[in-house]
Amino acid sequence: MPDSVPSQAVPQDPTLDQAALARALSGRHFIGGAFVPARSGRSFAVVNPATGLEIGAAAEGDAADVDAAVTNAAAAQKDWAKLPARKRGALVAACAAVIRAHVEELARLIAFETGKALRTESRVEANTVADILEFFGGLGSELKGESVPFAPGVLSVTVREPLGVVGAIIPWNVPLLLMALKIAPALVAGNAVVVKSAEEAPLTVLRICELMNRVLPAGVFNILSGFGPECGAPLVAHKLVRKVTFTGSVEVGRIVAKAAAEKIIPVTLELGGKSPMLVFADCDFEKTVTGAVTSMRFTRQGQSCTAASRIYVERPIFDRFVDALAARVDAMVMGDPLDEKTDIGTIISPEQFDKVSGFIAEGLATEGAVGRACAAMPEDAGLRKGLFIRPYIFTHLPADSRLVRQEIFGPVTCVFPFDDAETALAEANDSEYGLAASLWTNNLKRGLELAHRLEAGLVQINQNLVVQANLSYGGVKSSGLGKEASLESMLEHFMHKKTIMVNYS
Ligand code: NAI
Ligand code: MG
Repeated sequence: MPDSVPSQAVPQDPTLDQAALARALSGRHFIGGAFVPARSGRSFAVVNPATGLEIGAAAEGDAADVDAAVTNAAAAQKDWAKLPARKRGALVAACAAVIRAHVEELARLIAFETGKALRTESRVEANTVADILEFFGGLGSELKGESVPFAPGVLSVTVREPLGVVGAIIPWNVPLLLMALKIAPALVAGNAVVVKSAEEAPLTVLRICELMNRVLPAGVFNILSGFGPECGAPLVAHKLVRKVTFTGSVEVGRIVAKAAAEKIIPVTLELGGKSPMLVFADCDFEKTVTGAVTSMRFTRQGQSCTAASRIYVERPIFDRFVDALAARVDAMVMGDPLDEKTDIGTIISPEQFDKVSGFIAEGLATEGAVGRACAAMPEDAGLRKGLFIRPYIFTHLPADSRLVRQEIFGPVTCVFPFDDAETALAEANDSEYGLAASLWTNNLKRGLELAHRLEAGLVQINQNLVVQANLSYGGVKSSGLGKEASLESMLEHFMHKKTIMVNYS
């Protein structure tokens, strides 16, 4: 660990000093109920993207750490699975209460670590973690099987059993929420979990793990930090890991799925998106403009797999809509993520900054295309090295532009006019992705007809919410495999069904 960030005792009580907390959490995994450094002794820097300053360090996990975590998890899972399901649920729900008591702390720390604005994003995310834990915590008594009418004199039933150790690999864009969506159902179902955090955002999830371990038995929830090939890959490959759940890029999703196939274990993949938004002239105009700002997740710098990065607007309102959207985004405040006034924070890392900037430069260089930059850059001298990117609204791009085809994962949306619903539908479906879509119209007959024909895992009419507890979430096509966030997702993806037959004739 670098000398500049000495490790300190981790505070017991909630703290609003995110800098001290980041230092205190530095350089360790959480395995078997305790903080432990990497077996190799190595760590890597964690940087605040709003200032460019190093705020701490994360343990650099490798196969030895993976083995320690998985072995601990496998041992702990046996007794965990023997607890009554409702008791497991009650413990997960009790974790939610601890998280609630620390919401402000967690919100500040995730804003500090990822550059996501406190008011518009980070606080919301921290609260959602508690919500997800409460939701799944209440589902312990729903792990039901069936009785099957096989033959007279034979009682035939199915029972659901946990899978064992679940490996969960998470990204940096909404790490707390995405981790909660994996650990809560996995634990209630009776599995133990080993999470591999994202290298860009390892600290707040580590704090959540420590907080939940105050309630859970040691070893059922472990977390490792480290890089993908060195720490994520050995987790997927470990023989005691019986299920992998992954959120991230399509590219790595393929690698994870192949490794899971080698072991013949199930895998859930939540990958990217290029989510279309269809706006009809008969929509509620103001509500739809507001909806576009939310849909594009501009407050998260567009770093969302459900971001409405392709907006198709019926021609009679096209110009008015683009102007109104640009004006609305222009009025947003970009600045210090920890400032309550800030709407828009920073991009996560220099790599993502370069990637997003490259897309914008390409759009601006495209003949005939128009890119409108919105929202002023922050003026604060302390933020001069911050990874701020002005939101862009592009029009007049060719349909085969890379900006229209690929996931940018930044504050960039492309708006197109359309003349008839069939053309708009065809364009919306013309994508390798199929995660989410939204339709904005007061003609509900048409809206519902199109909703059925949109190739997406989640379609919303006249709203575009992020993932919600109790509603199955997950994509089709290259956007992924399997569902998250619902009772069915827990039953189908974190348990297997055993058939038991009793011949009493
Ligand atoms: P990534 O897919 O490389 O990283 C996601 C997670 O996978 C991280 O924890 C990483 O350490 C891990 N990982 C990387 N290589 C691995 C391997 N060989 N085996 C096991 N685990 C591995 O995503 P990255 O590089 O952070 O972002 C690249 C792009 O991916 C973004 O621009 C965006 O388009 C997309 N993305 C989509 C997300 C979503 O919510 N679906 C989230 C994050 C990124
Ligand atoms: Mg990557």
